[in-house]
Amino acid sequence: MASAPPEPRARQPLPFAQPDHLDPGLQQFLEQASAQLCRWLGTASERSPLPGLSVLPEVEPQLMGLGHGALLADLQLVMDGAYNPNHPGALAHLDPPALGASVVADLICAGLNNNLLAEELSPSLTRLERSMVAWLAERLGLPPGSGGVAASGGTLSNLMALVTARRSRGLQSCPEAVVIASADAHVSLAKSLAVMGLPPEALQLIAVDAAGCLQVDDLHDRLETLQASGRPVIAVVATAGTTVRGAVDPLGAMAALCQRFGVWLHVDGAIGAVFALAEGHRHRVEGLAAADSITLNPQKLLGITKTSSLLLLAQPQALSEAFQTGLPYMEPSWGGGHGGETGLQGTRPAEILKLWLGLRQLGLEGIETILDGAIARRSQLQALLAADERLQICSGPMHLVAFTPVGGDALAADHWSQRTRQSLLARDLMLSRPHYQGRHHLKAVLGNPHTQPHHLAQVAQVVQAELGLVP
Ligand SMILES: Cc1ncc(COP(=O)(O)O)c(C=O)c1O
Repeated sequence: MASAPPEPRARQPLPFAQPDHLDPGLQQFLEQASAQLCRWLGTASERSPLPGLSVLPEVEPQLMGLGHGALLADLQLVMDGAYNPNHPGALAHLDPPALGASVVADLICAGLNNNLLAEELSPSLTRLERSMVAWLAERLGLPPGSGGVAASGGTLSNLMALVTARRSRGLQSCPEAVVIASADAHVSLAKSLAVMGLPPEALQLIAVDAAGCLQVDDLHDRLETLQASGRPVIAVVATAGTTVRGAVDPLGAMAALCQRFGVWLHVDGAIGAVFALAEGHRHRVEGLAAADSITLNPQKLLGITKTSSLLLLAQPQALSEAFQTGLPYMEPSWGGGHGGETGLQGTRPAEILKLWLGLRQLGLEGIETILDGAIARRSQLQALLAADERLQICSGPMHLVAFTPVGGDALAADHWSQRTRQSLLARDLMLSRPHYQGRHHLKAVLGNPHTQPHHLAQVAQVVQAELGLVP
């Protein structure tokens, strides 16, 4: 005899917020999660900047979904093993603590779940992004009518800039076209060229001087040679704030050369362009305003939560021309263009919300205070380290300083930097260990507002103690 089908099991209600009344369960969940996050942030200095191996929760969903308590307990395990940027000794990378309003905006952004792909999926947020990029572009000195787009990271901003430059010069189908940058330019340029279908040799690197800045005479000679040989140039990329030492290429002189040779100038200001937001620091990126396009990464120093990057252009229509496809499955734009046609990304979150709210929370004075603090800390650490003649120091006008022992070979520098990094970590001070100009350095990024003079004095002490041990 055939058996009767099993009774359908009573299902759990699905955990979406109710549309017709406030959901007290969700509210409590958010409050508990927020208390847990605040505890994690508020106890940062009790843990190392770089936690050891931690226990990971199970990854597979179980048959029955978990309740709030179990979810928060799992989350805590991940949080226990997370990099800890709120620790005052977190000095290794370009990843500062998160700004309060930016965290709140990220939560709201998730709850709104709007989509910057198209206007009808993000009516107010699309307009907010347009207004915000226009304000930022003008604040950086680009001409009236300038604009751009938000992007999920500086790599994407650089890629979009190069794709736009190539199209504006009609070089889409030219396999010989090149991009010129300094030897210290970021690796994202090589990645961009690979995506654009160009061979690695298409990235032509110009040597840097002793300060880590592109040598303008060499750029001039290279442009002349390329012109004479009929090899087209997609763009010259200047770096405003190099990744290891924060050097700024001679932007004004490069802009003048680009104008003379009719070449697009992109400034990779992922690190340095934020300095143009404040009167007192604009001189650090003198000449920035002459760029055709600029990458700006507020995620790096201002504490806007990741990711927050923008590509800003003097002529933003070049960007939409490069990426316009039509969106046949959407209502037409109401006039300003869909976000999904203003750049490379399709569906994307309203990352502009946390930038907008974060900057509103800081105010112009708060932005200036962040920049002042970062520069003051770099100056302090640089002065402490420079007092020791056994160190070779690389820095620039930004908040980065890198150093390595004078003399010795690359292997000795490798061993010294590994040992010194470990000694620093043992004291909850974290520096990074970039390989730069053929040898390992230690690098400090002084963007953490919690770092105090005594932390920097301790860094210098440990470094000097380890120098005494150089073989
Ligand atoms: C100068 C420079 N440009 C671009 C980037 C890439 O930015 P992202 O990591 O946001 O893609 C970085 C990252 O450190 C950088 O230092």
